[in-house]
Amino acid sequence: MPEPTAIAPARGKLGVLTPGLGAVASTFIAGVLAARAGHGAPIGSLSQLAHIRLGERSEGRNPLIREFVPLADLDDLVFGAWDPISPNALEAARTAGVLEERDIAPVSAALEGVVAMDAVFDQRWVKKLHGTRVKQGASKWDLAQALIADIERFRTEHDCDRLVMVWCGSTEAYQEPSAVHDSVAAFEQGLRDDDENIAPSQIYAYAALVSGVPYANGAPNLTVDLPVMLELAAQRQVPIVGKDFKTGQTLMKTILAPGFKARMLGLEGWYSTNILGNRDGEVLDDPENFKTKEVSKLGVLDTILQPEVYPDLYGDIDHVVRINYYPPRGDNKEGWDNIDIFGWMGYPMQIKVNFLCRDSILAAPIVLDLALFMDLAARAGQSGVQEWLSFYFKSPQAATDAGPEHDIFIQQTKLKNTLRLWMGEAPVTHAEEG
Ligand SMILES: NC(=O)c1ccc[n+]([C@@H]2O[C@H](COP(=O)([O-])OP(=O)(O)OC[C@H]3O[C@@H](n4cnc5c(N)ncnc54)[C@H](O)[C@@H]3O)[C@@H](O)[C@H]2O)c1
Repeated sequence: MPEPTAIAPARGKLGVLTPGLGAVASTFIAGVLAARAGHGAPIGSLSQLAHIRLGERSEGRNPLIREFVPLADLDDLVFGAWDPISPNALEAARTAGVLEERDIAPVSAALEGVVAMDAVFDQRWVKKLHGTRVKQGASKWDLAQALIADIERFRTEHDCDRLVMVWCGSTEAYQEPSAVHDSVAAFEQGLRDDDENIAPSQIYAYAALVSGVPYANGAPNLTVDLPVMLELAAQRQVPIVGKDFKTGQTLMKTILAPGFKARMLGLEGWYSTNILGNRDGEVLDDPENFKTKEVSKLGVLDTILQPEVYPDLYGDIDHVVRINYYPPRGDNKEGWDNIDIFGWMGYPMQIKVNFLCRDSILAAPIVLDLALFMDLAARAGQSGVQEWLSFYFKSPQAATDAGPEHDIFIQQTKLKNTLRLWMGEAPVTHAEEG
């Protein structure tokens, strides 16, 4: 048996801070409040609903994850957010139109109590949004200090023992890393010089890490992929993870593609198109913001299918992803996938997937799990990239040069085996009797 990792107990309150109080964040908060009040189970959340097998199958040990590892209790969560538009979580939930009024009403007072702090926002990065609740500062350095002050004020006012930050803000315009992102020293100088390559999401991440707060990145923005943030996370011993919540079409892709590969079926092409009408869709209607998302969505198939190992099956795939903004659809996205596969003697077949999904309903439990697992990682003394949480991301960050793992089943095994190891249980390999 491995030695268990020392994990500090989950005492006191855990503050969950979200830059961005839109569809995902408000649906997450409303769902936790509802579950707490006994109105429905937190469906889609591994941390709350999944069991974990321990030892050999014959032992019959299969506790709930939340009873196996010391996670914060839902009753101990408090919520904070920044947003340049939404004043509070109640208005955000009503504007987002994800939840019905009958589900909002029982928790409306608590939602209204989650008042958004003024955001660090710059329209250059999100052209389609017009923010009014925005911090003013002489430089980006001052804005970072204002966020650090917000974090400390929130910690004190809500008597939090610990904090985590999960980016639920908009997808920013596409960006390549630049010299200012190379090191903490260069970045801090860049903040003072108001370097135009520093995006708002990076200022939040900087403030979080400097404050010792774990940071999870729900959007495809570069943020914690950047060398400056890796260096800062190592320096301050803080866990980081990203990027881009794995929901909707990409979730389906990472469920289906491993199946084709498991059966050695070939793939000629995968055409994915979506219509969606929420604020996220409006932001992604701008080509610069869509490019950020496209890069994150396209990487998935290559790593699962390994074209370099199976050139005959996967060496020449046409992979196309489109998102179209269509306001009548609201948050209820519709995705179509046309998948051209081939089998025995090269005979072609087609699969059509029509997913009428609700993006924020799929994303909310991810926010909950990330908040709880990142807090667990911090209490377990972990820092840097938390690869074991790649399960939740479209474009998972890799901790080593071996690169990311996209196959959702391998990701799930990795997540559960990490928990087993930390708790001094043997990893499950499914070999022999096991
Ligand atoms: N819904 C999903 O399933 C899903 C999946 C993967 C990724 N994401 C990403 O999660 C993010 C949130 O999605 P959503 O559907 O809630 O979008 P949304 O547009 O409803 O909410 C985003 C919120 O962020 C705010 N915002 C923008 N810039 C900000 C800043 N600098 N500081 C603070 N707030 C800022 C906006 O005002 C808005 O209220 C997006 O980046 C989206 O791409 C969502």
